[in-house]
Amino acid sequence: MQLLSYDSAYQQSIRDPETFWAEAAGGISWERQWDRVLDDSNPPFHRWFIGGMLNTCYNAVDRHVEAGRGDQPAIIYDSAVTDAVRTISYTELRDEVATFAGVLAARGVGKGDRVIVYMPMIPEAIVAMLACARIGAVHSVVFGGFAAKELAKRLDDAKPKAILSASCGIEGKRIIEYKPLLDQAIELAACKPECCMIKQRPQTHASLVAGRDFDWDEAVAAAQPTDCVPVAATDPLYILYTSGTTGIPKGVVRDNGGHAVALHWSMKAVYDVEPGDVYWAASDIGWVVGHSYIVYAPLLYGCTTVLYEGKPVGTPDPGAFWRVISQHKVKALFTAPTAFRAIKREDPQGTHLERYDISSLKTLFLAGERCDPDTLAWAEQRLGVPVIDHWWQTETGWAIAANCVGLGMLPVKPGSPTKAVPGYDVRILDDQGNDVPDGKIGNIVVKLPLPPGCLPTLWHNDDEFERSYTSTYPGHYLTGDAGYRDADGYLYIMARTDDIINVAGHRLSTGGMEEVLASHPDVAECAVVGVADALKGEIPVGFIVPKSGVDRPAEQIVKEVIQMVRDKIGPVAAFKTATVVQRLPKTRSGKILRGTIKKIADGVEHTAPATIDDPTILDEMAEALATLGYPAATVAAR
Ligand code: COA
Ligand code: AMP
Repeated sequence: MQLLSYDSAYQQSIRDPETFWAEAAGGISWERQWDRVLDDSNPPFHRWFIGGMLNTCYNAVDRHVEAGRGDQPAIIYDSAVTDAVRTISYTELRDEVATFAGVLAARGVGKGDRVIVYMPMIPEAIVAMLACARIGAVHSVVFGGFAAKELAKRLDDAKPKAILSASCGIEGKRIIEYKPLLDQAIELAACKPECCMIKQRPQTHASLVAGRDFDWDEAVAAAQPTDCVPVAATDPLYILYTSGTTGIPKGVVRDNGGHAVALHWSMKAVYDVEPGDVYWAASDIGWVVGHSYIVYAPLLYGCTTVLYEGKPVGTPDPGAFWRVISQHKVKALFTAPTAFRAIKREDPQGTHLERYDISSLKTLFLAGERCDPDTLAWAEQRLGVPVIDHWWQTETGWAIAANCVGLGMLPVKPGSPTKAVPGYDVRILDDQGNDVPDGKIGNIVVKLPLPPGCLPTLWHNDDEFERSYTSTYPGHYLTGDAGYRDADGYLYIMARTDDIINVAGHRLSTGGMEEVLASHPDVAECAVVGVADALKGEIPVGFIVPKSGVDRPAEQIVKEVIQMVRDKIGPVAAFKTATVVQRLPKTRSGKILRGTIKKIADGVEHTAPATIDDPTILDEMAEALATLGYPAATVAAR
């Protein structure tokens, strides 16, 4: 496909989105052509490709076999934790997916039914997602690092007919048994699934509940392949839960048509790859990056996708990424800056690079958190390829701002994910909704309609969609990020405007953690704040005020709340630091000054807000932080 230059593409996409996206839709095979490209009759709910029918699995798998790519690897599964590599061709993938779709169909799962996928990074997880898409079922993948209670919340919201899981995940050298977590989640949830399919891995054997749980391999051996079922472009393909400002996750919905069009288009325009190229997103299928760029986009485009089960360091060493790139001839790598910070910390000179030929690599893409200029410079120098920061969210499903390499690379400005991607009319507004001048920080919003691929709504919750995203600035989507645009049109994403923090590229809610802390019987009130961390970008730090009369040792209470967050939210929360204080800084109206606590911890210059109840408390906070190992806090407090 011949693409326009960035400027022309961007202008056209904003001036005439229907023509722009109709052209991009030519990259997808439709069962029935759409009647209208964009239905804007019911704002803020916009729908793309109304009347169109397609099947996402057909587009991602079957059509490539029909077009002669059957022998090309579709998936390279590289498991550094089991020391195994398995290559799955497009023909093999089609057959495995069709058969597993048969397993689901035989269990009565059909169009519109929800299926929870709680699986580690093994090929069966991708097969599960595609099999759902094949029969029009709606998958909801839950990241393995979440605790049973979080899984239970998702079960109760999605109300799945079936759950697909495995006996274990492998974290470095540790085996994480999934089945006890799954059993506990089903116990906790009000909604019980009709069946669970369990892939038994050799590392551990899960016990099955008779009548409810079935052995994956046995079910596959008995199944008949099933064909692709055409669905409406506007039918949901998946629900992906993400952190909001409270402990209740948001069920981001993705449609079939707009999603396929946008992701297919992005592979050339943003990532500059061709069908047949090897593309590697080093993330996890439980996150949006995994959904979009381990599974759907590379397969929709006919690339080979790498499914990597391992870490950037420790599996076995900081050369792990270079080994995968050289072994599989990876052309584009996409990961989070934290992965590079982890590698840089263990191998600052990049000596492990000397062992591998990584000349296949043309570009490194980073996203998921702010990319600090030091990490960008280190990666650029060591790898000798362009390093492209790009900005997006679970809600959008693909990049809002990027250096669109396939549309002609623009100069890289460290600290900026470059410019708005075609389709996104990005504006920076002040609190009153006025455009702010270049260089001035404001709320980043996107003028509606959002382009194809972005969330049409939240699962069964149009009201919450409007409340969260479109009611603050009517006619605009609120990203929840603050930042600015420079005179050249480059965007800078500086901070969240809500209680969401970003820990090792993982999105977490401090509000959700506070709910857990507050449920401890000795805790009167608490605050959780995201504090800067050299490896993970941010880490959560908790401040607990005990109830009056509580005389148990502070260390004991701290230990208990840390365990509670691990048990109720999961290890992924990385909540390992908390302290007991006598009071929290508040405004006179009683609002906890979390932003000020964060500034103290980060050693950022700050003044006591005019509304503060008692400024002397800031010194107490600085002392508390200093004892936790944040000396910058003491300096800032002086
Ligand atoms: N299943 C079960 N537990 C999991 C898990 C999973 N799928 N993923 C992570 N965890 C656990 C970890 O083992 C760790 O547990 P611990 O506290 O017992 O050690 C905890 O959750 C926190 O995980 P993480 O924040 O990933 O820390 P880490 O120290 O294990 O690894 C990095 C740090 C930087 C190496 C790792 O986060 C990383 O590679 N990140 C970059 C890539 C990425 O995943 N980006 C996501 C969006 S693009
Ligand atoms: P998630 O929904 O998990 O993808 O997290 C989305 C959030 O991560 C965004 O709203 C930003 O706060 C942050 N984020 C993602 N990518 C970037 C980036 N390139 N630069 C700065 N922040 C980012």
